Amino acid sequence: MGLSNTLFLPLAKKFIAGETLSDAIEVCRSRNSAGISGMINILGEHTSDEEKIKSYVSEYLLILKQIKKENIDSSISVKPSQLGIDLGLDYCKNNLIKLLTEASKHDNFVWVDMEDSPYTDDTISLFLDVKKEFSNMGLCVQAYLKRTEDDLNQLLSSNSQVRLCKGAYNESDDIVYKKNKTVVNNFEILIHNLFNQGNDFAIATHDDKLIDLSINLHKSTNVPFEFQMLLGVRDKKKSELISQGHKVTEYIPYGKEWLPYSIRRLNERKRNIFLLARAFIP
Ligand code: FDA
Repeated sequence: MGLSNTLFLPLAKKFIAGETLSDAIEVCRSRNSAGISGMINILGEHTSDEEKIKSYVSEYLLILKQIKKENIDSSISVKPSQLGIDLGLDYCKNNLIKLLTEASKHDNFVWVDMEDSPYTDDTISLFLDVKKEFSNMGLCVQAYLKRTEDDLNQLLSSNSQVRLCKGAYNESDDIVYKKNKTVVNNFEILIHNLFNQGNDFAIATHDDKLIDLSINLHKSTNVPFEFQMLLGVRDKKKSELISQGHKVTEYIPYGKEWLPYSIRRLNERKRNIFLLARAFIP
């Protein structure tokens, strides 16, 4: 077992279902019994290795079959860089279409995650291209990117289903809002735009201010939407929202390549950094 496994794995476990698909299905089943829908993701990103890409695609196809077979309430969420966006848009498009075709057979849905900024243009154009044929897909957009208001307008004008999140990658300040306050300001503008022009979108945050704004706008507009949150974060809040009648979907990642994802999660909260530092002290 490597050093990173010894140090990080106990902390990372909070945010991941386990290493296998049956771990993810079991977590999903127990979340379903609490009224929460699942959204299963295989950990792993940024590869140009065709064998690896093929194995991600086969595994996602298997997930879709298992969800149906086990009668689980879950969609899937995929990263373009797992489907080979680094090998060209056509290559990635073929893989995405395989997943969407299988998902359509089972009346299921495919969310596309948004990765770091070198992929934003390609991810949006891939999504809009494939969306002409498939409606069972949605795309994540990031409130920290200064360009997102324009992207969101474009996506909404083509009736796209959207997940709005803050954004999780380390980007330069000429393209992103860096301070949490400015990200929240932009997130609020985008929530207003979603409630004015959108439908069935997802607000993906654990931030009370943004959750409260969404609830208030839903009360005044009646526009249907859902909250999406991460496995291992704010479980009490999820139950509270369910009991108020809101739909909550949980992002459930699993797999062996848990390190980059877990580092992003650990970075998001000072207390996590403290726990991490404590792991280094005997
Ligand atoms: P923020 O980080 O400010 O958290 C608000 C509060 O929530 C904190 O004060 C704390 O109480 C709690 N909290 C949040 N994170 C925590 C943690 N890790 N541990 C413990 N408590 C925590 N990003 C991206 O770039 N591309 C993507 O495709 C996605 N997809 C995605 C899907 C879903 C369902 C979610 C919920 C999030 C994403 N993200 C993402 C991640 C997103 O960009 C962002 O990094 C995290 O959601 C954290 O931001 P919050 O909005 O929760 O606010």
